[in-house]
Amino acid sequence: MQVVHSSDFVRDAVKRIAEASFAAAGGPFRLALCGGQTPRAIYEALAAEDLDWRNFIITFGDERCVPPDHSDSNYRMACESLLNRVPIPEENILRLKGEMPPEEAANIYERELRQRSGDEVFSHDLILLGMGEDGHTASLFPATSAIGETDRWVVANEVAELAACRLTFTFTLINAARRVLFLVKGERKRELVEGIARGNGYNYPAAMVRPHEGSLLWLVG
Ligand code: 6PG
Repeated sequence: MQVVHSSDFVRDAVKRIAEASFAAAGGPFRLALCGGQTPRAIYEALAAEDLDWRNFIITFGDERCVPPDHSDSNYRMACESLLNRVPIPEENILRLKGEMPPEEAANIYERELRQRSGDEVFSHDLILLGMGEDGHTASLFPATSAIGETDRWVVANEVAELAACRLTFTFTLINAARRVLFLVKGERKRELVEGIARGNGYNYPAAMVRPHEGSLLWLVG
């Protein structure tokens, strides 16, 4: 795994996302957004870039089980910081429907992806991921059922520590990506990344992200 420590985290993240979009060379650019707070400033800076937005196809690596206008919604955060500011066609934004019964929302989403990729696993050009201080990524939390899922691409995942259900990509979908970019900020998380890089992070879900053929980069701010 490649780890890059950045003194200009937002700028470096925007640069790498833009570069990945250029590599799509006028074809569809399948980009999975991550949630939480870290990416907000990155999305705001990305919105100012002159990119081929009409070629972007946006998915969400995970979502809270809340309506799209809820303050916890990753979709709402992405709209406020990016999607409401750039001309991505509405039909190219595939929202995880957090307001629906979770299992149904996960099944519908997986069907949408399968319709676009057939039975080959849907391969993103770039998946953005964050990491929590417990080593979770997307909504793949330690000791939750989604960790062991190998057939499905999108599942509903009960997270006891949050007393909540989440919708999340599985490792099957994540590891089929051409590129994965972790966006991680903060001293505690920096230490976690170093542990994972040394091979000591074996029990962290984030350490299970190993794209089969794609690249993996950890950008640490
Ligand atoms: C979410 C995310 C989650 C997030 C990490 C880091 O829905 O919360 O997808 O995996 O990336 O929890 O969150 P922060 O960036 O807020 O620290």
